Amino acid sequence: MNAAGSRRRKTYDDLRSKRWYGVADLRAFGHRSRTLQMGYTREDWAGKPVIAIINTWSDINPCHSHFKIRVEEVKRGIWQAGGYPLEMPAIALAEPFQKPTTMLYRNLLAIETEELLRSYPADGAVLMGGCDKTAPALLMGAITMNLPTIFVPAGPMLRGNWHGNFLGSGTDSWKYWAELRAGNITEKDWEEVEEGIARSYGTCMTMGTAATMMSMAEVLGFTLPGASSIPAPDSNHSRMASLSGRRIVDMVWEDLKPSDILTDKSFDNAVTTLMAMGGSTNAVVHLLALAGRAGVKLTLDRFNEISKHVPMIANVRPSGKYLMEDFYYAGGLPAFLNELGDLLDRKAATVNGQTLGDNIKDAKVYNKDVIVGRDKALYQSGGLAVVRGNLAPDGAVIKPTAADPKLWKHTGPAVVFEDYNDMAARIDRDDLNVTKDSVLILKNAGPQGGPGMPEWGMLPVPKKLLKEGVRDMVRISDARMSGTSYGTCVLHVAPEAYIGGPLALVKDGDLIELDIEARTLNLKISDAEMVKRRAAWKKPAPKFGRGWGALHAMHITQADQGCDLDVLRDGPRVPEPEIH
Ligand code: FES
Repeated sequence: MNAAGSRRRKTYDDLRSKRWYGVADLRAFGHRSRTLQMGYTREDWAGKPVIAIINTWSDINPCHSHFKIRVEEVKRGIWQAGGYPLEMPAIALAEPFQKPTTMLYRNLLAIETEELLRSYPADGAVLMGGCDKTAPALLMGAITMNLPTIFVPAGPMLRGNWHGNFLGSGTDSWKYWAELRAGNITEKDWEEVEEGIARSYGTCMTMGTAATMMSMAEVLGFTLPGASSIPAPDSNHSRMASLSGRRIVDMVWEDLKPSDILTDKSFDNAVTTLMAMGGSTNAVVHLLALAGRAGVKLTLDRFNEISKHVPMIANVRPSGKYLMEDFYYAGGLPAFLNELGDLLDRKAATVNGQTLGDNIKDAKVYNKDVIVGRDKALYQSGGLAVVRGNLAPDGAVIKPTAADPKLWKHTGPAVVFEDYNDMAARIDRDDLNVTKDSVLILKNAGPQGGPGMPEWGMLPVPKKLLKEGVRDMVRISDARMSGTSYGTCVLHVAPEAYIGGPLALVKDGDLIELDIEARTLNLKISDAEMVKRRAAWKKPAPKFGRGWGALHAMHITQADQGCDLDVLRDGPRVPEPEIH
């Protein structure tokens, strides 16, 4: 039986929107007359489900430029299937522009999504996102509202190009920035890289946070099959948009909701996929938050358990060689998932009413250098690892596949930066007491300290070491790093320094021991010394006295909890709006 087969089909009397449009009272008079005011006729809405399209288009988000056109394609599908589309713009969370980080606003978009759906006459939702935090934010809000929901991913942009070489978003920026600082390329070369690295609309086209989270949306069951891998400018992307519009109308009549799709098994599928694709470390935080909204108990330890037996089979930067455009031509996510075979629960439900297994069973890999077989895995265990120890009692995350294997087991003296500004002021100074064996520490960059865990976790290698040819060293912080980054960067240390986690107590010269194989991270000082330092520690002054930042600081949870706001994740269901 498919996901919708066991439920009674809804009728117009069951729809939320009937309370706005289909009753004979003064309020409904107002709703109808104001809809007529917009030029619609009664036939446009009468007896039809209202589909809210939450669109994160903005002039400042280049990853979503095409959403202005795509939204019309989504609407076309909704009209064709007998629905009434209403576009509702929402905060765009433009990763390249928003300071200090879009992550500070992920939960704001999640609230906005939830409250748009609650306060307006929505019977179903189409979510349009892709740029890093937009996908998890939209899904978090929609999961809580639990109306039939389909996700339209923005899709990756085309490959970058410089002198005939492919360029990958982020990954090649860091690479050529290091070469510029080392004096190996010219300012003119750098300008040309700048002009060639982002050639079309669409999201970053490495396996960064956007590609990872769009794939997570698909494997969790929220998109049409294959939707997440289609390059944004491809005409298949337009067709996917209108088909998603058509499908959401049926989903409303079938009453196919997020709670019918999301289970502990579907989250295991997502974690398995994340590991096999060498996806972004950010996905750990986002999946924990999504699971929290779905009422599924997902822990950091589950990531480690799954990581151990999942091979990495996506040869895509930053952990591999190719880009998302190549991944699509190689068969895209359906072929990739099919290759994972029995590592996935194929009975998981999806928005098209079929199981995940049905959706992927005929998908083939067309380029085995991009999606490699399990027997030829790039790494025998998954792309991410969770480490714990006295420096990170509640865990920290590292991407071993993007790190130099020589550093997987490493002990070195700490070079401590109290915050980002301290790091930026001193990292390139000739008198910085640092060697290639040092461990760079960045404090106060976590959920409260950043605030919002900015992507500062890939601390730059000091200039004097770059000139010696050093390209990687162990770096530890409570920040995140871009999914397009690479290096031996231990991230998301919990609890964070700003609230007095052990990271706050590290001093210059302390020995730090990282052992990825053993999954440990320890500060080599005695317990007594740790107690003494803790007693002397003083909490930094609050960063915000008012506004969203102050609200955020009051309610934000730590990285191992997904950084959701406690008031959004916990508590009883919010009732439907009163009728008046
Ligand atoms: Fe939007 Fe990378 S900047 S996805």
